Parts: sequence; structure tokens; C-alpha cells
Amino acid sequence: MTKPDPRSDRSEACDSPDITGDRYHVETWGCQMNVHDSEKLAGALESVGYRKAAGRHDADVILLNTCSIREKAAEKVFSEIGRLLPLKRKNPRLIVGLCGCVAQQEGEAIFARAPLIDFVMGPRATASLPRTLERLRAGDPSAHRTVDTEYREDSIRFPFDSIRRESPETGKAYVTIIEGCNHRCTYCIVPTTRGREVCRPLADVLAEVRSLGQKGICEVEFLGQTVNAYRDDEGNTLAELLRATAKIDDIARIRFTTSHPAQMTDKLMDAMQASRPSLCPYLHLPVQSGSSAVLERMRRGYDRETYLAKIGNLRQRIPEMLFGTDVIVGFPGETEEEFEQTLQLLDEVPFDTVYSFTYSERPGTRALDFGDDVPLAVKMERLRRLQARQREIQRGRNLMWIGRQVELLVEGCSKRDATRWTGRTPDHRIVHFAGDSAPGEFVLVEITAATPYSLVGRQCATEKNSRVTKKGSLDEAHRASSA
Ligand code: 5AD
Ligand code: SF4
Repeated sequence: MTKPDPRSDRSEACDSPDITGDRYHVETWGCQMNVHDSEKLAGALESVGYRKAAGRHDADVILLNTCSIREKAAEKVFSEIGRLLPLKRKNPRLIVGLCGCVAQQEGEAIFARAPLIDFVMGPRATASLPRTLERLRAGDPSAHRTVDTEYREDSIRFPFDSIRRESPETGKAYVTIIEGCNHRCTYCIVPTTRGREVCRPLADVLAEVRSLGQKGICEVEFLGQTVNAYRDDEGNTLAELLRATAKIDDIARIRFTTSHPAQMTDKLMDAMQASRPSLCPYLHLPVQSGSSAVLERMRRGYDRETYLAKIGNLRQRIPEMLFGTDVIVGFPGETEEEFEQTLQLLDEVPFDTVYSFTYSERPGTRALDFGDDVPLAVKMERLRRLQARQREIQRGRNLMWIGRQVELLVEGCSKRDATRWTGRTPDHRIVHFAGDSAPGEFVLVEITAATPYSLVGRQCATEKNSRVTKKGSLDEAHRASSA
């Protein structure tokens, strides 16, 4: 079956004057929200006539969409900026814009550290992009070194038909439903860089999802820094959104990220259960620490027992649910005993994916008052122990899949082995497999080998399934085979 191209209606958004020769290139760091924001930046540029460049080397406009969650992430941006200097020398017309969270955090100060930057634009001020570029290109001196870091609603209100999706052929699409964060975790810079929560109306989100479905998208992932805090002006929450999306025939898989444990309510859990099988049985639920004392210092708003109770309640409703999490080691004052409580939590839950980080001091956060008192060597040693323990847990859990059949949505060629495909199960496992397939197709694969981080398999004979068979049929087969 030929898939409709989700980009096919972009011509309407690109009716503006053709400015041939003006090619853009967007580079992205950080989370899914940033990846999706870059799709909006690209859409904004294409709607005023820019075209995608093959790479930074043949671009007339380069946008750096940055992340500042940890110091290392922010520093990487500055070393990349340095690499742009030869390009800027070669092409004096080249415009480089710094966007995203580093832009918001640093503002005007960027120009002292990185003089080649032409303008700075925060993640909530993206609507000014076409105008800023127009003025810079026209040589308007007042446009030089513009800083727009106002907290507006530009990104969340971006017209969804103009989004320039990076990989629509995979059948997957991100949909932002809430931006910003009203929590004040003591280590986190996000409330500063992204501002307070702002939510899209449910009707607008559903219109986007329906439109994506009509264009061949079968998996949507709702995005927000605290996605389960979603509540529109009419009181609709993520619970209502999940139930409504599960009724949309074209959408076979629904995911959402990132959830806050304190806002994982019974009402939401009920809606998740009611939205199966479209709702994927995988939840990323950052715990940050297994110690209630550390969680208190982090101001996370829950303790170890509450977190475990939420996991238990979800498992009760959806037994096949798998969990992923984020962990910070070496938070100020973290003792060996407190760290060991985190290690024990890994065994207790257990998780199928853990993203782990050493604590990094961030400007303007309250944890600065605590002092960064865990020595780097201790942080690194804890990180190594945590990752080694989790690797063993994942190895054991993945080995259990050998011999089972799983449903995959194919993402593309395997990055390591071009003779294989890569796809994801509903519960978010990565599977590399040999077979005859294409991105965006559903296939049934038998697992033949496992590593801690992915599975390997072979496509089941004659079971090459296009999206016609979606909406639970393969998922049922998956559940039956894994029961
Ligand atoms: N230091 C280390 N890790 C952090 N994270 C957020 N802020 C910091 C910080 N200051 C981690 C958290 C969060 C993930 C996206 O990044 O684990 O969930
Ligand atoms: Fe940061 Fe906490 Fe908000 Fe997550 S909930 S974005 S960790 S402040």
C-alpha cells in the first residue's frame, strides 16, 4: 500500500515568495520536545520560502536548537559554535541563530562568548524567526544581535499543518500538548528555560492527530515537560485526550512523555487502561532517586513508597506495562546509603530503560544553595555501579524474549548493519531483524537473540503486515505469545 506523504499539503504553507538559494539547516540537541521544536522551526522557514540544505556546509541560515539541562549539554553547544567559524568566513551572508534552552538561559551574554551568533531566540519566542531573518538579510542594523527571549506561546500555538516533520515515513509523529513546567525541582533549569505550563485546547490536539492519521501516521507521541499535568481551559486532561485518541481508527499506537509521578492520578491510570491496546504498554516515569530523603531535597513531591505504589497501581491495571526512568546520582548530600536505596529500587521495580546522570549544578536553581558536595570521583563511581547493575537487569529481562514473537513498527535500516531493519515493539524495545520490510510497516518478528539494550530477530514468514492490519490485531498476537 502506498502511504500518503504527511508533508504533501505543505505547499499551502509555502506559497510565499520563492527565495531560491536560501537554504536552512537546523541542528538539534536534547529531548524529544527540542526535536519537535526543530520541526516547527523548519516549517516556519519553509512557509516563507526557505529550503532544506544538504548540511551545514551549504546552508545560508543555520539554527542551533540547544539544550541546557546539564552543564555538559550546554558546553557542547559552544564547542559546536566554534566549528562554524570557517563557514562564516567562507560565506559572509551566512546567518547563525541560537535557539532553544541555552538561548533562553544565556540571552545577551551569548554574544560575548560566541560573537559569530547573529541572533538569539528562546524556545517560546519562535514566531519572530521569519521577521528577524528578513531584517538581517535586508541588512537592517537594528536586527543585528537581536535577542527575543520573551515567554510567549509561539511554539505551542504553531499551526500544525506547517510543521515540517523529519521522518514521516516511519509512521510516527510527535504532538506537543503542554509546554513548560510549574514544578520547582531544586536541580532543574527547565522551569526557567521553558517557563510556566501552557496547554493546547483538546480540540486542536485532536484535529492535529486526525490530520496526521489521514496522512499515514499511525503512532503519535504526546509531548510535554510534565505531560500528565495537561489540562486545557475547559478542564480536559490527559485522561480525556487518551480516551478520545484511542477512538481514532488511524492511530494504532499512542505514547506520551514525560510524566511526573506525583501527577499520575487514578483517573489517568483508568484512562490508560481503557485506551489499551492503542495506548502502548510502556511508561517513562522519572524517579530521580530511590531515597525519600534525597527526593525531599529534590522537592519532587513524592517519596519512594508513593512512587512504588504508583508503579503497582499501573501494573494492576495493565499487567504488561513496562517502565523506564531517569536517575540523578551524586545529588548534594547524597550518602552511600541513600545511593544504595536507588540501586535497590532498580531491582525492586524493575525498569527496562534507565537514563542516568551525575548531578550538575545549573544557574538559578535552588540546589545551588546546598553546594555540590559529592566529589566527582564518587559521582562517577556511583554512575558506573548503577549502570552496571541496570545492564545486568536488562540483560536478564531481554533474554526472556528469545523465542517469542513481537509486533514491530519499522523505523528504518539498522544503523549498525544495513542488511537489517530496526523497529520498536509497543513496549518500546528496539529490535533489529532480517526480513523484507519498509519504514512505517507493522511486522511480526521472532526474537532470536538479546543484548541488554536491544533484541535481534527474524521476520515471521508471510507475516509482513502493512498498516491495514493495525489497531490491535498484531498487538493481540504479541500479548498472546508473551502471556
Ligand atoms: N543534573 C543532572 N541531571 C539532571 N536532570 C535534570 N536536571 C539535572 C541536573 N541539574 C536529568 C533528570 C531529568 C533528565 C531529563 O535530566 O534526570 O529527568
Ligand atoms: Fe524539571 Fe522537575 Fe519540571 Fe521535570 S518536573 S521539568 S525535573 S522541574
